[in-house]
Amino acid sequence: MSNEGRLIVERNGAIGRVIFSNPDKRNAMSLDMWRALPRAVQELDGDDSVRVVVLEGTGDKAFVAGADIGELATQDPTRGREMAMRGQHVLDLVEQLGKPTIAALNGFALGGGCELAMACTFRVAADTARLGLPEINLGIIPGYAGTQRLARIVGRSQALELILTGRHVAAAEALALGLVTRVVPAATLMDEARALAAELAGKAPLAVRYALDAVTRGLDMPFSQGCALEATLFGLAVATEDMREGTRAFLEKRKPSFTGR
Ligand code: COA
Repeated sequence: MSNEGRLIVERNGAIGRVIFSNPDKRNAMSLDMWRALPRAVQELDGDDSVRVVVLEGTGDKAFVAGADIGELATQDPTRGREMAMRGQHVLDLVEQLGKPTIAALNGFALGGGCELAMACTFRVAADTARLGLPEINLGIIPGYAGTQRLARIVGRSQALELILTGRHVAAAEALALGLVTRVVPAATLMDEARALAAELAGKAPLAVRYALDAVTRGLDMPFSQGCALEATLFGLAVATEDMREGTRAFLEKRKPSFTGR
């Protein structure tokens, strides 16, 4: 286990964990925590034994309640722009990790916390979780790609309604909007997140990486280019040992054992 300030990285077998810990401030992300996140992502990306990453907030009140507003209040225009660009880059790294990421939302996921969750592959929410982009109430707008990812996830009208009102949505509404993947009883959140992680960890890692790449990068391309990307990645998948193992296991009526080659 390595501990970088208040961002903790752990491994439990094939499951990597990134824990955001700033409990006195509802796990608000300080600049130090934002700086530590790329290192955590790189560490988990480079470790082939890790196949899925779960992101968590400490305690039972918050996932991450956004950027640290105390630090935000001291920004000037130039540093503000740089801060937004750095934050966007960090969340791109999370999105492009190449392994499924699961944000386990145990409470507030607001502002940068909601933006972080949206950069993850899946958002599993406790029924007590609340999500939102309340930046408008601080006289600013989301700056870590929240305007872009929210609109892509829930559509333009719903995104504008949430961004312009800054209201929090409860887990059930977030599920109806498609903003979270699953809602589970708060007491079972981590069990459910780990069960999903274990299921995903059993899949062929290269096929998982290619599927993530095809969907995520494909969404930023015209349809025909996305299809070309898909065909290339399909070709790569067909060349893997795991493809031979997966098809052979089906024909031999047994469970496949994927190695990531
Ligand atoms: N940055 C810095 N401090 C924060 C914070 C943030 N994003 N979110 C919460 N805190 C601090 C509060 O200032 C408070 O500190 P204090 O104990 O020294 O007074 C502590 O965390 C607990 O927050 P509190 O508001 O008392 O808890 P709550 O349960 O009533 O409400 C929230 C929780 C998350 C709804 C509320 O704190 C909030 O709205 N936070 C800001 C969310 C936000 O705007 N995020 C976007 C930032 S860009």
